[in-house]
Amino acid sequence: MTQRRPLIAGNWKMNCLRADGLALASGLAAKASEKGTLGCDILVCPPATLLSDVVGVTKDSAVGVGGQDCHAAVSGAHTGDIAAPMLADIGAGYVLVGHSERRADHGESSTDIRRKAIAAHDADLIAVVCVGETEQERDLGATLSVVNGQVAVSVPDGATAKNTVIAYEPVWAIGTGRTASVAEVAEVHTAIRAELVKRFADGNEFRILYGGSVKPSNAAELLALEDVDGALVGGASLKLEDFWKIIETCA
Ligand code: PGA
Repeated sequence: MTQRRPLIAGNWKMNCLRADGLALASGLAAKASEKGTLGCDILVCPPATLLSDVVGVTKDSAVGVGGQDCHAAVSGAHTGDIAAPMLADIGAGYVLVGHSERRADHGESSTDIRRKAIAAHDADLIAVVCVGETEQERDLGATLSVVNGQVAVSVPDGATAKNTVIAYEPVWAIGTGRTASVAEVAEVHTAIRAELVKRFADGNEFRILYGGSVKPSNAAELLALEDVDGALVGGASLKLEDFWKIIETCA
């Protein structure tokens, strides 16, 4: 059986002014250093305004830092956007691409997301490619075809288990307090694994995270599933104690 080291990632979304964000990041770094050996990798994805400072306060710790999005181009006339090399330049190691809030709020397609993932790889960032069905798609019985379709188009051919992480986040479970059942999560993760194994020589080594209302009370049962290799955590990642409890389920 392949040993995949879990990744617990916090997506802060559009939250945290400087004081709160730095307190959260430095608190996390302190806990990680105090603990010493950890059972997982830790990542936080703060808003762009805090990235540099969060890199600063976590730099001697096990806490990795990532952006929440990047542009597909390396530079140019794209007001308001951030290029992948800019994230790498300030010391980020990861970037989320294709979060459902970006797909919905900014009309990003899976093709756009593949381009962003390629830009991330070119800048030596690990791309966390997010996929997931809407409630309507689930009700129509289209979950696996939607998710497999998103994986097929969003994940570039140059992806490897080292430069890419997949995050399965059912849209209806994000920020709603509704988590997918263990059986629902297992079914989709198994299907994503099968697609990755079909397409990539190291398909078995890719980490597949679950996201959508992950909290201390449900993390253990989700993380115990064979093909769940970590979590992408929104709301609960803004509370140090809660995020830490999720991290500790991997100990
Ligand atoms: P949530 O968000 O944990 O608040 O549901 C997860 C995400 O959108 O990444």
